[in-house]
Amino acid sequence: MTSLIDFDIKDDSIAVLTLNRPEAMNALSKGLLDELNEYVRKINADNSLRCTIITGSGEKAFCAGADLKERKGMTEEQVIEAVHYIGSTARNIENMKMPVIAAINGAAFGGGLELALACDMRIAADHAKLGLTETSLAIIPGAGGTQRLPRLIGPGQAKRLIFTAKRITAEEALNLGMAEQVTSSDNLLQKAIETAQAIIKNGPVALRQAKTAINQGLQTDMTTGLSIEHLCYKETVSTDDRLEGLHAFKEKRNPVYKGK
Ligand code: COA
Repeated sequence: MTSLIDFDIKDDSIAVLTLNRPEAMNALSKGLLDELNEYVRKINADNSLRCTIITGSGEKAFCAGADLKERKGMTEEQVIEAVHYIGSTARNIENMKMPVIAAINGAAFGGGLELALACDMRIAADHAKLGLTETSLAIIPGAGGTQRLPRLIGPGQAKRLIFTAKRITAEEALNLGMAEQVTSSDNLLQKAIETAQAIIKNGPVALRQAKTAINQGLQTDMTTGLSIEHLCYKETVSTDDRLEGLHAFKEKRNPVYKGK
């Protein structure tokens, strides 16, 4: 059976997951979601991996969202289950212990954009189009889009995009803060890898704690957020890596972090 996800490792510690159903614009069939979840679980359990990149095969689509052909034959209960499965997959990606980069190589619509929104950052190819298009199908973003998009770009712009189901360019996404970087299509994976290379130089425990502090802190008030930051900071203090950072600074060399 052909694999619906390609898995590769760059520089020993960067996992690259490629959604691989180009004939269906990398839409999220149940089979693809099963494989994606399995890889997310495996990557998370592998301490040698320190950053993950998620992209799509081909240049046309990152992911065209829910598999609309599969959905057509579903009962109402099955539809609810299917949207819940995309949502829990997005949550599993968001909760990965390492930074996750979406390299948006083409159209990212509906559930496809919702997956990208669950990543820690988004780098888009300059020809990519992005949109939460669900209201045009008489449904709403149900895999986190109504919650993550307003948190990322503010409620007014999120409502404009969700209510109009507008498909925007990568440049507009960049201006709105929905993508953090835009680059040429040829350079997309390389750009994502360069960002990952800059990340994996740093302390793995620190990266995990910084991600936790930001993600959890965003859900709460400032006082609670600062307490969360303090708890996360404390997790880094007893690590060998913190001492290695200090030694490397004194010895004027690059630190070698082990995630301990
Ligand atoms: N689910 C299942 N199949 C999909 C799909 C989806 N979400 N999106 C595209 N496909 C399939 C098409 O049906 C077509 O298959 P076919 O060759 O058997 O007809 C194939 O992928 C190519 O798509 P096509 O529309 O012909 O390509 P395009 O380059 O003209 O347009 C898109 C690409 C992504 C712009 C367009 O397919 C699209 O708008 N898809 C729907 C996106 C959407 O609204 N998703 C939100 C779901 S909630």
